[in-house]
Amino acid sequence: MFKTASKVAELVDETEKKLKNFSETPRLDAEILLAKALETSRFGLFTKYTEKVSEEAEELFNSFIERRKNFEPVAYITNEKEFFEDTFYVDRRVLIPRPETEFIVEKTLSLLKNSPKEDLLDICCGSGCIGLSIKRAADCRLTLSDISSEALEVAKINAAKLFPCSTEISFVQSDLFKNISGKFGIITANPPYLSAKDMEKFVVKELKFEPEDAFFGGDTGFEITEKILNDVSNFLKSGGYFITELGFEGSAFLNKTLNGLELENVIKDYSGIDRAAVFRKI
Ligand SMILES: C[S@@+](CC[C@H](N)C(=O)[O-])C[C@H]1O[C@@H](n2cnc3c(N)ncnc32)[C@H](O)[C@@H]1O
Repeated sequence: MFKTASKVAELVDETEKKLKNFSETPRLDAEILLAKALETSRFGLFTKYTEKVSEEAEELFNSFIERRKNFEPVAYITNEKEFFEDTFYVDRRVLIPRPETEFIVEKTLSLLKNSPKEDLLDICCGSGCIGLSIKRAADCRLTLSDISSEALEVAKINAAKLFPCSTEISFVQSDLFKNISGKFGIITANPPYLSAKDMEKFVVKELKFEPEDAFFGGDTGFEITEKILNDVSNFLKSGGYFITELGFEGSAFLNKTLNGLELENVIKDYSGIDRAAVFRKI
């Protein structure tokens, strides 16, 4: 017996039920993954709700659902993640950009308002989401840096996609500041900040797909942030800013680690958690 082709609406409803035990957002996942299989947007999917899905597209969609049931993040299945005002290419070589990291972009843009053509360094850049989002909205010269050559390859894909003609983006493979030279008006970072204990607790299910180096910040979780804070003022112009995302309880240890830097402010996220810190070179 031939199976009759399913309609978009039926597939979304059925898949929502199938994903209930595997995702906190089963309907959203079903819609995004079906939109991907049909090579349309989520909005485009809503306009096709009563249409039948081809056998090939349904097969592809089913393969996506099997991956999702293995807890693979939707962003790795679609190779896309929205961040700030753009969609970034992602795969397992990089951390999937998180919405809370957008606070760093917003704060940096407010600092850049009065300093056009500033030199910006984004260390621990991963997909390049922070530096590239800032460059999209502000006219700056950008250096993207990461210890992982694989992450830099992904950052290059995003740079080519968002700035096809720009010659103002450089890429440096570097263990923090080791291969960095020159001084910058602004340095941004979202360093790894999970402790050994956090890694045991959180790197299960979805996090297991992301690169471990993107999470592990040393035994206490603060080691990489402390190293950055020790060196960053050597790479800042006088009066320059360093904006960094903070780990859990990250603001508790900030006062003791100042080194040629003044803590300007700590930015809270919408749930009142200290999310990022802004330092100024003194
Ligand atoms: C939390 S992820 C942040 C990625 C990206 N900036 C974002 O916000 O989505 C941390 C990044 O730091 C990089 N990293 C880890 N240790 C590093 C080191 N010692 N020097 C430079 N980069 C490092 C990892 O490869 C990873 O890409």
